[in-house]
Amino acid sequence: MGVQISPSILSADFARLGAEVDRIATADWVHVDVMDNHFVPNLTIGLPVVESLLVTSPLPVDAHLMIDDPDRWAPAYADAGCGSVTFHLEAAAAPIRLARELHRQGARAGLALKPATPVDACADLLGEIDMLLVMTVEPGFGGQPFLEACLPKVRRAREMLDGVGRDIWLQVDGGVSADTIERCADAGADVFVAGSAVYRADDAAAEVERLRSLAAAAVG
Ligand code: DX5
Ligand code: ZN
Repeated sequence: MGVQISPSILSADFARLGAEVDRIATADWVHVDVMDNHFVPNLTIGLPVVESLLVTSPLPVDAHLMIDDPDRWAPAYADAGCGSVTFHLEAAAAPIRLARELHRQGARAGLALKPATPVDACADLLGEIDMLLVMTVEPGFGGQPFLEACLPKVRRAREMLDGVGRDIWLQVDGGVSADTIERCADAGADVFVAGSAVYRADDAAAEVERLRSLAAAAVG
């Protein structure tokens, strides 16, 4: 599939979300961070806001659910029309059943790992998913510094995914910017979430394109 850029609206102006999505028209996805103040110590938006975004967004929605009990809540995001729904391995009771349910609802199924969760923990689940998300910060907040310690994990994840023999995307999320994206691409990531790097830029669409070309040039 090649390099894809999925800007996170966590760093956007929540009072003007529709217009903020229009600022990133050059992107492949809009990344929406759903947080419940239980799985992570922060509260953002939920299904009603995502449903409204789905009506107006020119881009497909990449929902990242940082919530407890995704088995119960995630399918509704797929049913609402999100193109991709990612849940956390640490929170799911039955990840295989959940991934299959997301597929039944017409979405791609993503599986996310917090920094301390070893990539081997999902080795037996790769046949069920379309994307693995390796977090490169502790989930919960935008604008945190990139955790270099996660890069070897990205590399191991790429090796494991290549072994499956199907195009499973490898997403990185957290601290991704013009300073770090090349190292992520070199390690094997192909879908890049960037929140503050894109939304703090004067020209967000141009920043998306800058990130895309840096990543494309650095692909290992
Ligand atoms: C963090 C979120 C990220 C966050 C990224 O928990 O999952 O998507 O918005 O923001 P930056 O790019 O600023 O680290
Ligand atoms: Zn995210």
